[in-house]
Amino acid sequence: MKTRSKLLILLNLCAVAFLAVYNYSRAPTWTSIGSRRSLPSTFAGGVHRPLTVDLFKKLVYLNLDYDKRLKKKSVWKWVPGGSADKAVLVDRLQVSPLEIRNGDMVTIEWRSLPKSVSEAVVLALYCPQGTNEKLIDYWPLDEEISKENMKMNLYNVRMDCQFKVHSNHSGKIVAVSDAIRFKDSLSTPEHCHLALTDNPQEMRVQWSSGYKYVPEVLVGLSLTNLPHRFTGTSSTYSAKDMCGPPANLSAHFIDPGQLHSVLLTGLKPRTKYYYQYGNKEFKFSTVKSFTTAPINGSKDVVKFIVYGDMDITPFPGSESTMKNVLNEVSTNAASFVLHIGDLSYAYGFGYRWDEWMTLIEPVASAVPYMVSVGNHEQDTLIGSEKDRSGEKGFHPSWGNYGHDSGGECGVPVFHRFHMPDNGNHVYWYSFKYGSIQMIQLSSEHDYTAGSRQHTWLSNVLERLDRQMTPWVAVTAHRPLYCTSKYMEDYETAMGMQRALEELLVSHEVDLFIGGHLHVYERTCRMYKSKCSSNRGMIHLVAGAAGFELDHGEQFEDKEWSLYFAPAFGYGRISASHDHLLWEYVSNYDGKVIDSLSLKK
Ligand SMILES: [Fe+2]
Repeated sequence: MKTRSKLLILLNLCAVAFLAVYNYSRAPTWTSIGSRRSLPSTFAGGVHRPLTVDLFKKLVYLNLDYDKRLKKKSVWKWVPGGSADKAVLVDRLQVSPLEIRNGDMVTIEWRSLPKSVSEAVVLALYCPQGTNEKLIDYWPLDEEISKENMKMNLYNVRMDCQFKVHSNHSGKIVAVSDAIRFKDSLSTPEHCHLALTDNPQEMRVQWSSGYKYVPEVLVGLSLTNLPHRFTGTSSTYSAKDMCGPPANLSAHFIDPGQLHSVLLTGLKPRTKYYYQYGNKEFKFSTVKSFTTAPINGSKDVVKFIVYGDMDITPFPGSESTMKNVLNEVSTNAASFVLHIGDLSYAYGFGYRWDEWMTLIEPVASAVPYMVSVGNHEQDTLIGSEKDRSGEKGFHPSWGNYGHDSGGECGVPVFHRFHMPDNGNHVYWYSFKYGSIQMIQLSSEHDYTAGSRQHTWLSNVLERLDRQMTPWVAVTAHRPLYCTSKYMEDYETAMGMQRALEELLVSHEVDLFIGGHLHVYERTCRMYKSKCSSNRGMIHLVAGAAGFELDHGEQFEDKEWSLYFAPAFGYGRISASHDHLLWEYVSNYDGKVIDSLSLKK
């Protein structure tokens, strides 16, 4: 397995007191710690990522280069290392244990692998076992080969799996393992996550199972008494629902099973409930708990987490983010999570969704996990008539909107995440939480004047009740302001500014939070590309939840960028009726490296 150099972080995190006074009626004062430091020139986000994603991504991009936006027909076919049909079986891989549960670790041993093939081999995971049809992930064995074993976590794909070793020279299969079985793989409820609905008396519970059944949630006010029963609906998707390759290739598509959704109604606001989900004829989950939202306009302090661009990466990447956020939920009263696009980075490879949904479950089953789409969920150059948003692909001349979803075009997200029904499903929606109004946009669908999304946004802004929710925060995967030197990102941000800034500023939106750039950045109050003391929004980029960081050299200094750090972490907002505190928490040590205090 390829291992990149470890991340060395020598950020000088000295907090520098900073005070600015704004003569602005809605937010007269704001204070912050932190300042823009000189850009680290050697900040090489050296996080290890499985090579698979790099190769898959390369495959997608190579095809795009080749077909030049579909003017030429390309062949979307990938056979790893050659034909398996001519395999010569010379060994059996030893895997233990052979019966596991979702996410369990297994040990794979290959002590007797012949030296002739040991210089360059690939360990591949095939599901279902016994066929060569679906290679769902693979790991080049270079440094690891001499260790004669490796450990990894495996994720329930609702069928038995099998490891095989390919010679990287001939492509032949030189070793196979026995079948690996997931215990109760079809009946176990997996991937639970909660969602708000904009009604503090409701909560939505979603999960998946291999079996098709009537989804049930049992709810109550005590751990041992769940007297209320709710039922819901289920859906699924197939390879043919996807917009293009590689997502619609049977070799990579994995049946996601049944995706269940149950709406709980008639709950009391700001109340802790216990719940259990599944079906009584199959299997129920263990008992978990959540707390409902406060009444709209509540003056109590509410706290929540926001980030984008996650993937599945070890310390200090997404696994650290989830560990730290779970701690925020269990000990620091964080009430919900906003994940503003670029979730699993599956690129059309279904196994990635099973892995990522398992990664977020401890947090997402405890507090609502509110998502929106990024380019890696949504963007496609092919088949956008299958986009469940009802929109056609968004490809303005000034934007860098490509094929970044690997043909998924939002379909997995649409089925997996049911967001509030007051906009356009998972694509754009709004909700109130205490004294803050959240508006989540899709930067991957048309947001220009006259579009459905722009019209919807205008209507939401017209109806704002600032007595009830004095704070308004708008999010989208891509930012309106960024200091990237990469011209395509800059031009896309400018396009978003032209389309949205005047509308948002005229309605006195307080914060605009984006991701996409894998860094943290905070601006002054901005209007028309300048700091403004009496008009404008503060822009935040929080796109460093786990995916490989962008390098500092890719960004330039701007007078309006008050804090910049290519550092893994997440944003934290605490809001009461008259005070909002924004903080950026570093994954490395859990400390706040930048903050901003706003008052009404
Ligand atoms: Fe992105």
